Amino acid sequence: MKSASDSATIQKRYDRIAPYFEGLEAVMEGLFFKSWRKKLWAKVDGHHILEVGVGTGKNFDYYPKDARITAIDFSKAMLKQAANKRDRKNIAVDLDQMDIQSLYYADNSFDTVIASFVFCSVPLPLKGLKELYRVCKPGGQVLLLEHVVSSRPVMARLMNLLNPVVVALVGANINRNTVKNVKACAFSSVRVDESSSDIIKLIEARK
Ligand SMILES: C[S@@+](CC[C@H](N)C(=O)[O-])C[C@H]1O[C@@H](n2cnc3c(N)ncnc32)[C@H](O)[C@@H]1O
Repeated sequence: MKSASDSATIQKRYDRIAPYFEGLEAVMEGLFFKSWRKKLWAKVDGHHILEVGVGTGKNFDYYPKDARITAIDFSKAMLKQAANKRDRKNIAVDLDQMDIQSLYYADNSFDTVIASFVFCSVPLPLKGLKELYRVCKPGGQVLLLEHVVSSRPVMARLMNLLNPVVVALVGANINRNTVKNVKACAFSSVRVDESSSDIIKLIEARK
């Protein structure tokens, strides 16, 4: 029997919401996410970039112009939205369907591996983060923008309580401790940007 959080189930949730995804997030995007995305992408360095969990391509506007960018997602329907946007906006990006938990790329392939709001839904987040570490070049960086469980006990309890409902509806967990998970990988340094809030974290991990 499949658990509510296995890969096929989460993939199907994103396939289902793909056509409405940008509409569902429109208010949050305008009020908060846009400025976070700008901050995230300003930290990219190197030429060869991998974006994981590209979704509908909301980061396309922030891609560095002269970089070679590959972007992956395991949801075919989200990738279809991204492909339409890529063609409409003439964005230079290779899109591929792939699971973050088992990337096809060789070790040490990318200068920067980047994701926004993805590790809330990767079914086995540690496995996925270790894959990001593996495909990142030595000296390269993994940049993550993630929402995490609150450090405030009452808020954290509420998030834990609501989590099963949110997973069932949209496939995302609201009670992940992604900073702790990144620190559990073999990165030489992990830094959380000081502008991060209690719930939104901008994480910079160096291999
Ligand atoms: C909340 S959306 C965020 C999309 C985009 N990064 C953004 O900032 O709008 C999460 C995305 O991660 C993808 N995703 C989740 N787990 C994945 C996995 N194991 N492998 C590949 N993609 C995954 C989902 O299909 C979805 O498109």
